Amino acid sequence: MKILIVGSGGREHAIAWKIAQSPKAEKIYCAPGNAGIAEYAECVNIGAMEFEKLAAFAKEKEIDLTVIGMDDPLVGGIVDVFEREGLRVFGPRKNAAILEGSKAFSKDLMKKYHIPTAEYENFDDAKKALEYLQTAKFPIVLKADGLALGKGVLICQDLAEAQEGVRTIMEDKKFGTAGNTMVIEEFMTGREVSVLTFVDGKTIKVMTSAQDHKRALDGDQGLNTGGMGTFSPSPFYTSEIDAYCKEHIYQPTVDAMAAEGREFKGIIFFGLMLTADGPKVLEYNARFGDPETQVVLPRMKNDIVEVFEACIDGTLDRINLEFEDNAAVCVVLASDGYPVSYEKGFPIEGLENFKDKDGYYVFHAGSKFADGKIVTNGGRVLGVTAKGSTLKEARANAYKATEWVSFENKYMRHDIGKAIDEA
Ligand code: AMP
Ligand code: GLY
Repeated sequence: MKILIVGSGGREHAIAWKIAQSPKAEKIYCAPGNAGIAEYAECVNIGAMEFEKLAAFAKEKEIDLTVIGMDDPLVGGIVDVFEREGLRVFGPRKNAAILEGSKAFSKDLMKKYHIPTAEYENFDDAKKALEYLQTAKFPIVLKADGLALGKGVLICQDLAEAQEGVRTIMEDKKFGTAGNTMVIEEFMTGREVSVLTFVDGKTIKVMTSAQDHKRALDGDQGLNTGGMGTFSPSPFYTSEIDAYCKEHIYQPTVDAMAAEGREFKGIIFFGLMLTADGPKVLEYNARFGDPETQVVLPRMKNDIVEVFEACIDGTLDRINLEFEDNAAVCVVLASDGYPVSYEKGFPIEGLENFKDKDGYYVFHAGSKFADGKIVTNGGRVLGVTAKGSTLKEARANAYKATEWVSFENKYMRHDIGKAIDEA
């Protein structure tokens, strides 16, 4: 098969690496891709939001399957464009990707179908939101409705901070049109866990669990980022919790989308909070997590192309998803200053140290070729992943491997997976 991947981050690198292992994959393309992805795929200079150009490319090259990695094209309706052109594509249509694209939609869905989540109200008028805050309990959480690069969530400690937050989102439009509507929700406490699943419209199959580290600095301090590191599995996600989530969260979500005439095919990534009252949904994503994918796919035994096809064909019930009985940790190497401002274009040295090392991976998040060299090209640059028989071993291996690569303003957190010690 000829396969096209749409995206350019560490997630798409992990997907490309996994697809490359499938006996079904003869030729892989990635648009736009990056310097690491280029090892497995021919990178094509078309942007992820250029739907018509991408579809024309897929037709011209007779692509058999296109896999969409990123949220923006999914929410924007890339799958509908490909289907209209008679192309086979993995991912939810626009009317289903709204599960991630609108937090107000997803909250209303959960309320209607009794799926556990934080109490909330939706607002499309700043005045009403400010009135509501007068009688609210603090801390409280404000969320811009639409996509905001994971940055549209504000946790406010008191009334003054929350009033400022409402103005930032709805009046100053800091997150653009994502802030036309806003969710105000109850603050929850507990451990966070990310659960990635495959969905074929009716059947849902759970991959393994993972935990992200969203803040920029050690000790979960500093600004929110796209994710500074992950580990998998989460020792806090027990088989009892998994059983509860399957019955009360996962299948009900898939059934709810079908009942609404928004059949979901693709990946649902459940962001959960394990609260004292049981697991609750923090957010839905309609795609693989980044960097969760960099610890989940290296542990997956299945041929991923077969699973993608089963999701499209509605035959996921026949697939037995299998994961290795081990652990993986990913430490993100970022450009110092991320997520605010940072320099890029520095040569990356030592990538060859990962060649032929079983259980060690270097996934590129932001890299490109310049004058025949691979240079840094983003805030998050690399995801260094290592496996181990236990989480502790995987963490030690991953940190060891972070020393194999260097670039001028290399920055990482030193406490990825610290929670493992509390398990
Ligand atoms: P989201 O993009 O919805 O996952 O939110 C980003 C981060 O904000 C989450 O990973 C949580 O750490 C935090 N968060 C979101 N909603 C809540 C909530 N209701 N209570 C506490 N923390 C939250
Ligand atoms: N790592 C969080 C996300 O992919 O949204």
